[in-house]
Amino acid sequence: MSNDSKVVVRPARAIGGVVRIPGDKSISHRYAMLAGIAEGISRFHNFSAARDCASTLDCMSKLGCAWKRLEDGAIEVHGIGPQLRAPNEALDCGNSGSTMRMLSGILAGQPFSSALFGDGSLSRRPMARIIKPLAEMGARIDAAEGQRPPLKIRGGSLNAIRYRPEVASAQVKSCVLFAGLFANGETVVEEPIRTRDHGEIALRAFGAEIERTGNASRIVGGQRLSAIEAHVAGDLSSAAFFLCAAALFPGSQITLPGILMNPTRARLLDILMQMGLKISVAHLEEHNGELVGTVEARGAAWTGAVISGADSAALIDEIPVLAAVAPYTENGLEVRDAKELRVKESDRIAAVATNLRKMGAQVEELPDGMKIPGKQRLHGAELDSFGDHRIAMAFAVGALRAEGETTILGADAAGVSYPTFFEELQTVAGR
Ligand code: S3P
Repeated sequence: MSNDSKVVVRPARAIGGVVRIPGDKSISHRYAMLAGIAEGISRFHNFSAARDCASTLDCMSKLGCAWKRLEDGAIEVHGIGPQLRAPNEALDCGNSGSTMRMLSGILAGQPFSSALFGDGSLSRRPMARIIKPLAEMGARIDAAEGQRPPLKIRGGSLNAIRYRPEVASAQVKSCVLFAGLFANGETVVEEPIRTRDHGEIALRAFGAEIERTGNASRIVGGQRLSAIEAHVAGDLSSAAFFLCAAALFPGSQITLPGILMNPTRARLLDILMQMGLKISVAHLEEHNGELVGTVEARGAAWTGAVISGADSAALIDEIPVLAAVAPYTENGLEVRDAKELRVKESDRIAAVATNLRKMGAQVEELPDGMKIPGKQRLHGAELDSFGDHRIAMAFAVGALRAEGETTILGADAAGVSYPTFFEELQTVAGR
């Protein structure tokens, strides 16, 4: 990721307007992968604009599944059924842990070898969490030191397993369930903490039978998938930046149509409401098993929050922006049980603490979280994205209430999930 792109954010006085948020990244990855191993041509409207999802589409095309963008912006993926084509070259997953981890589940069931690699950030991320279950199922996987990328996967026939991941991870769950499609018998993933269920919902949308009982998801191997046409709901984790921006200024008002309301993702709305943001959801609908609604938010008083336990897993992608706005709350923010933040696209606990301190804030870094007191006054500063999309966007939001301008170095990282983020933020920031 180039670090020479920079964006200057000036303070705002209010936030107002309507933002159409691009399609959800988690769902788009899964749709692109499952469309490839389905029979027929799938079509996706409002498919994520994220660079990460382009990495998935690119990998799928190297595996024989052509895709194209139609004139109306929709994406078409040509499914070639469960057996993919052996790639002629290594598969570039870019910055995308989701691509590498979930695609590995499908590659484990293929009768050929494939290699996967990523950028500098992805090359530092842990892969033991998927290597272990896939090896148990019968795949042979080589990794670099510390079980990190690049990966070489020698796939083949797989045995079903019953697996209890050590970390709460939806990527791991989807990886094992996708591999389960190719296994003999019933594969079960029993989660320690409930994580987002887009993998299960997408499998069902493509015609697979998948059962959920308690904390366990089960799939029987050998099922065939059929192409679908779907509209991808706006990404709630991207919407979070605008909701937090509105929360910074009492009297702000923002409307976000067509946002994903899946209950395993929507915990953010409860927390923001507890903190004082006035939120209402209208036009609730279901698309291919996923809930969608229009979110309207009004800034009011802004108190603090404690995020721990299952909430930390549920809010893992939104903690950076909650932390960036925390100094402006009445009571501050405390985050615990979130050590996964240390192995995301950057060490997000360290990145948040470094940037907040540069803005003059007090913050206590914990091994698994942070404590940020409220009622602080921050000043603009030169900050680093650390090559991490969510850090770049989180601090663009925090900068709206600082005194003076903030420069974000490596701001281009935002494109990993939301290429037009800075333009959109500019249009809703009243000055
Ligand atoms: C994702 C799951 C989460 C999340 C990531 C997307 C997914 O990661 O942080 O942005 O689409 O399943 P983990 O599975 O590592 O928790």
